[in-house]
Amino acid sequence: MANAVFPLDLFLFLLFSSISLTLATNYPLSTKSRWIVNESGHRVKLACANWPSHLQPVVAEGLSSQPMDSISKKIREMGFNCVRLTWPLELMINDTLAYNVTVKQSFERYGLDHELQGIHNHNPSIVNIPLINAFQAVVHSLGRNDVMVILDNHKTVPGWCCSNGDPDAFFGDPKFDPDLWMLGLKKMATIFMNVNNVVGMSLRNELRGHNHTAKDWYTYMQKGAEAVHTSNPNVLVILSGLEFDADLTFLKDRPVNLSFKKKLVLELHWYAFTDGTGQWKSHNVNDFCSQIFAKERRTGGFLLEQGLPLFLSEFGTDQRGGDFEGNRYMSCMLAWAAEKDIDWAVWALTGVYYFREGKRGVVEAYGMLDANWHNVHNYTYLQRLSVIQPPHKGPGIKHNHHKKLFHPLTGLCLVRKSPCHESELTLGPCTKDEPWSYSHGGTLEIKGGTQRSCLEGETMVGKSVKLGTRCTKVKRISATKMHLSFKSKDGSLVCLDVDSDNNVFANRCKCLTGDSSCEPASQWFKIF
Ligand SMILES: *[C@@H]1O[C@H](CO)[C@@H](O)[C@H](O)[C@H]1NC(C)=O
Ligand SMILES: *[C@@H]1O[C@H](CO)[C@@H](O)[C@H](O)[C@H]1NC(C)=O
Ligand SMILES: *[C@@H]1O[C@H](CO)[C@@H](O)[C@H](O)[C@H]1NC(C)=O
Ligand SMILES: *[C@@H]1O[C@H](CO)[C@@H](O)[C@H](O)[C@H]1NC(C)=O
Ligand SMILES: *[C@@H]1O[C@H](CO)[C@@H](O)[C@H](O)[C@H]1NC(C)=O
Ligand SMILES: *[C@@H]1O[C@H](CO)[C@@H](O)[C@H](O)[C@H]1NC(C)=O
Repeated sequence: MANAVFPLDLFLFLLFSSISLTLATNYPLSTKSRWIVNESGHRVKLACANWPSHLQPVVAEGLSSQPMDSISKKIREMGFNCVRLTWPLELMINDTLAYNVTVKQSFERYGLDHELQGIHNHNPSIVNIPLINAFQAVVHSLGRNDVMVILDNHKTVPGWCCSNGDPDAFFGDPKFDPDLWMLGLKKMATIFMNVNNVVGMSLRNELRGHNHTAKDWYTYMQKGAEAVHTSNPNVLVILSGLEFDADLTFLKDRPVNLSFKKKLVLELHWYAFTDGTGQWKSHNVNDFCSQIFAKERRTGGFLLEQGLPLFLSEFGTDQRGGDFEGNRYMSCMLAWAAEKDIDWAVWALTGVYYFREGKRGVVEAYGMLDANWHNVHNYTYLQRLSVIQPPHKGPGIKHNHHKKLFHPLTGLCLVRKSPCHESELTLGPCTKDEPWSYSHGGTLEIKGGTQRSCLEGETMVGKSVKLGTRCTKVKRISATKMHLSFKSKDGSLVCLDVDSDNNVFANRCKCLTGDSSCEPASQWFKIF
């Protein structure tokens, strides 16, 4: 993959197709079983980016680099339809901060003169307005550009988040008074009562810390949910799990008890480090990924089976390519997210932070945008997300029973090379509707056309794999079931593989188990 070049026309095609699939959403939203739907009961899939606005200056990041409308447009252009906009509780419970501190004063307080100059240049209208009005201006800019907003109460005191020892990690901690929190939620819900594009509120990010208990979770989260709903019945009420939002297991035995219906969504976070430091490095990737599939089901995925929506509201990895564990995790996570067709928000939209953990101008390695807040940071990474942007199933989504053969390493799908080379295979955009079917007998077939067209075994290690009439039996082997194996011409077992030019060829099945130094992802295909 290191030298793979991403063709611009393919990228534009992906962009165009995802935009046409997600435009014209209508609010408010509600839930129907595990799906989020609009008023006609049609599925609306949340494909969001996290836009931080909870750090010390309490101003949405990036406004010193680009006009807010340009950022909003860029969000749509990249195929996202929504933003999880973070805010610190102080913005709602400290009126001096919200109404008496202007953007200018807030930047001056932290010595951010250069950044303030940038705001003057790119967003002059917010320089002298109070912080709360600047926050509202960002929400309105997103609305003008048809971007939905989920207001996420990220923490109490403005600043970077999160660790176990924070004074605002859990209810009852020195900086986490449940009553003030509820007051703040009510105010936020009320302020955005008639702002249509605000579709949800995420009540508190990453509950955690030494004092956390499931018992208190129910007590306060249910109260908080009622408080939000009473103040603004339009918004989805989104509840984070425990352990940095990596654990919703406790909901298995005791569902959330609320007075209202069709507005509850649970949220879950999943990064490489969620799976334990060093774990992606020290295990066989294929075995570990299958264990992690099971873990994700246990800690949150089961909710989908119970008919509750689950929002994967933070995930991501270093986009500069050097994060060994993050790269391994990313293919596994994407396969899961695609199969579940889950609602999600990537961490993060940033760019560069004005001021983070005492340092100015900190670049976000996980960010979708470059430090200039305009260029896409890494097109390959965006391409990998593009498959999970449009909805694939759910109420109102045309379901044609065609399967996709998703290759998470590239974010592409198995497709025919061209109409005149019907028998040759390559990788292409997943939006191309290839009528694949996969039977229980193990035939992998493209339906339609005049004659049968299925995967043939008439090949050898290192040679291309073709479609034809002499169908071979394709088995999903290995613990992840993502290796597609079949018998080659000489009778040996081979797997579908992809080289750096996206040629699809037969290869020895690799990294099935054991070896922890081996990378299986070029041979991973998720059929969904
Ligand atoms: C729901 O979404 C569908 C598909 O985008 C759209 O056709 C329909 O008009 C929407 N209905 C409402 C009430 O928003
Ligand atoms: C805001 O500032 C004005 C004048 O500077 C002051 O009178 C008022 O009490 C302040 N309000 C808050 C909520 O701090
Ligand atoms: C409220 O915000 C102002 C301005 O940031 C700050 O000076 C003050 O200490 C805050 N009050 C409390 C109670 O945190
Ligand atoms: C946990 O609760 C105790 C007692 O209420 C409190 O003193 C302590 O500060 C809390 N721990 C943290 C990390 O906030
Ligand atoms: C749910 O909450 C209501 C109102 O607080 C209460 O009457 C009811 O017993 C609760 N149900 C369960 C199953 O806990
Ligand atoms: C972009 O991301 C891909 C994987 O998502 C990675 O392989 C590649 O090295 C990254 N490219 C750059 C220039 O950082």
